[in-house]
Amino acid sequence: MSDEAPPARAARTAAVIPAAGRGVRLGPGAPKALRALNGTPMLIHAVRAMAASRAVSLVVVVAPPEGAAEVKNLLDAHALPERTDYLVVPGGETRQESVRLGLDALPDGITAVLVHDAARPLVPVDTVDAVIEAVRDGAVAVVPALPLADTVKQVEPRPGGEKGEPEPVVATPDRATLRAVQTPQGFDRDTLVRAHTTVTGSVTDDASMVEQLGEPVVVVPGHEEAFKVTRPLDLLLAEAVLARRRANDGF
Ligand code: C5P
Repeated sequence: MSDEAPPARAARTAAVIPAAGRGVRLGPGAPKALRALNGTPMLIHAVRAMAASRAVSLVVVVAPPEGAAEVKNLLDAHALPERTDYLVVPGGETRQESVRLGLDALPDGITAVLVHDAARPLVPVDTVDAVIEAVRDGAVAVVPALPLADTVKQVEPRPGGEKGEPEPVVATPDRATLRAVQTPQGFDRDTLVRAHTTVTGSVTDDASMVEQLGEPVVVVPGHEEAFKVTRPLDLLLAEAVLARRRANDGF
């Protein structure tokens, strides 16, 4: 019997980018992921943000089903680092379904998976690397997150939401124990696939599916530039961040 330690499994990391949503809250126009930020589609910024990490060898983009060919052309037309492969697959009805379709396309040999919203185009590479490192250190699910600036109220929702009638407050959770979560969320591949095959019911992020399996999920520091582009004001903020980066790069 050999007493050599078994070889450490070489961690190969892929990023799945669900980009199949319509983004109705941004107003009318192209699917959100294809809107331009400083002349470049948001999706391309998001793909580059993942490819900026040397650990990411493959990016799987989940495209609007009717727009998969257009997305493939876009990726072909925008340079990515030599070391990064990419695939485009058509998405589904819900974000969850889109992520599952992305996971189905992963080749053998990928052991760690990032799931990153196309709607967070400006996440810095240090945040991506911090998530990957925590997965490689043994965490099965890792979420970048920030403390909340606003106090949060739990309410009894009324029809019409923000524009409807006043909503009764039920509780005020202690803000110190809350975090606003971002992406990329990082996972052990097998755990995430198990979550997507066994957990049913609608969720708003992948880590909560892993929580439902009873597996531990940890939070690492997120970044203010990893914000989600949801409303028209976010487009202005994103362009301001890009302008600041360009100015800083110039000096
Ligand atoms: O709607 P929301 O902003 O939460 O969407 C988060 C991400 O999920 C977006 O990048 C969006 O394109 C993606 N999505 C998807 N398939 C859907 C719905 C949303 O890939 N059916």
